[in-house]
Amino acid sequence: DHGEGFDESSKQDQLDEVRERAEGEELTSDHGVKISETDNSLKAGERGPTIMEDFHFREKMTQFDHESIPERVVHARGTGAHGYFQPYEDPELGDEYDGLEDLTKAKVLTNPDQKTPVFVRFSTVVGSRGSSDTVRDVRGFATKFYTEEGNWDLVGNNMPPFFIQDAMEFPDLVHAIKPEPDDAMPQASAAHDTFWDFASLKPEITHMIMWVLSGRALPRAYRMMQGFGVHTFRLVNDEGESVFVKFHWTPKLGTHQLVWDETTKLWGKDSDFNRKGLYDVIEEGYDPEWELGVQIFDEEQAEAFDFDILDPTKIVPETEVPVRPIGKMVLNETPDNFFAETEQVAFHPGNVVPGIDFSNDPLLQGRLFSYQDTQLNRFGSANWDEIPINQPIAERHNNQRAGFMRQEINEGKASYKPNSIDDDDPQEVPEAEGGYEHYAEKIDGKKIRNRSESFENHFTQARLFWNSMSEPEKDNIVDAAHFELGKVDRIEIRERMVYDLFNNVDHEFATRVAEGIGVDPPEEPGNEMPDHDREDPSLSMENRT
Ligand code: HEM
Repeated sequence: DHGEGFDESSKQDQLDEVRERAEGEELTSDHGVKISETDNSLKAGERGPTIMEDFHFREKMTQFDHESIPERVVHARGTGAHGYFQPYEDPELGDEYDGLEDLTKAKVLTNPDQKTPVFVRFSTVVGSRGSSDTVRDVRGFATKFYTEEGNWDLVGNNMPPFFIQDAMEFPDLVHAIKPEPDDAMPQASAAHDTFWDFASLKPEITHMIMWVLSGRALPRAYRMMQGFGVHTFRLVNDEGESVFVKFHWTPKLGTHQLVWDETTKLWGKDSDFNRKGLYDVIEEGYDPEWELGVQIFDEEQAEAFDFDILDPTKIVPETEVPVRPIGKMVLNETPDNFFAETEQVAFHPGNVVPGIDFSNDPLLQGRLFSYQDTQLNRFGSANWDEIPINQPIAERHNNQRAGFMRQEINEGKASYKPNSIDDDDPQEVPEAEGGYEHYAEKIDGKKIRNRSESFENHFTQARLFWNSMSEPEKDNIVDAAHFELGKVDRIEIRERMVYDLFNNVDHEFATRVAEGIGVDPPEEPGNEMPDHDREDPSLSMENRT
């Protein structure tokens, strides 16, 4: 039962009203006064100085002087597109569950008659807004669903694990990976020491490093890239019951990479290769498509895994829980204005709708603070949610008031509750029917800073990834390690990567890396390695084409 007129084009209809406001034939000032001359400033005499009174000059120049806003502190470079998401008719969730309706009240995931408008932004993580597209990096894959029940943001990446286990470490990670502070050289050009120094001292990073050294870090096109929610989330049904979920986007065109030689040539020949690729195919009418899949598991299954589902450096292998397709996303419209849409879109993992909830993953929990906070910096105001691209289609109504650049005109005297001035019945609690309710998870513990022991074991899944690769993919990873670590000046950093990290993943892998970077071959690791032969075929890109 969906509201009247809510469909795939609802967001575009809303944006059209905004676009129309900017239309017009004649040149005017910002205040609607027709302008007759815009090339010459007003002067005191033909060769005299410019006069302060020239309001058109002042307005034009002031606007220009203030055109730039801070770029995102990470994921600065990106491209976006509009489209829609639609659940499949009959999501087959195996014997245990009939359909997602039993698992979540989020209609965006369950109603096959509903096309929900989306805006997706793909990005590189580390480079500045003007950097090159085809660098070795993680890619962001952020989707804003303008659902009838409010905006849901699935702010994901193109790799399923992450570098660190706790949000507290994120500023350190980003300081290490961004251009070095003294000479501002990006890691991709001259020096490489800070990132690899950090990595070599953080064994929890090992699994993600394997992905970053693989072809996953060199996507051929945004439309040929998987996406992952990374964290474990929750689905919650009408009865308040919950299961865990991992979100997966799978491109219809398969998952493909560039090879290193192609990427380095593209830096020079077409540094917008990925951004342009997405724009061009949509303009030409080849609308890229992804399938949304979910891995669903309950508390009992979660307990039985040999890793912690709250640890974002771990994946749930598809050999343990298969991915079940639930719907498709099509991107079919390019933005009209890069700044207004792609630059000003503000994603936030904390934007969820009823039926979707968080887990206690300490990385996710920290993200719930970070995005809104950084957006206050980026927009200079708490009212960025009123910018057209960020506005929900769902109605909103609350007592939030004022602030820089407020667009809403809120009527009435009372912006507080309870009130007897504007409300007919001040004692009534007018909570929206179907309002968001947090999953009532039972929590009982001491306030502590240490990390759960269940987060240890940093190598098993890194080994699973290595074992799952085909020979050419393994060669790629070794070559990448040679290139990257070969640029590290300090030999002790190279040694720590080989001896402390890679040798615990796989001895042969570590030996091959050592050979190419002037490090003595490592000794066979002494500790017993459980499940050394385990593989997950879904991790190989060869099996995803
Ligand atoms: C962007 C923080 C982990 C995906 C950002 C931004 C910040 C941030 C500050 C800039 C947002 C803006 O200016 O609008 C963090 C913190 C993390 C973290 C503190 C860990 C504690 C992750 C993870 C993922 C991710 C695990 C993937 C699952 C993204 C994406 C964007 C982004 C896709 C770009 C969104 C866009 O296109 O506008 N992050 N991040 N981040 N982050 Fe994270």
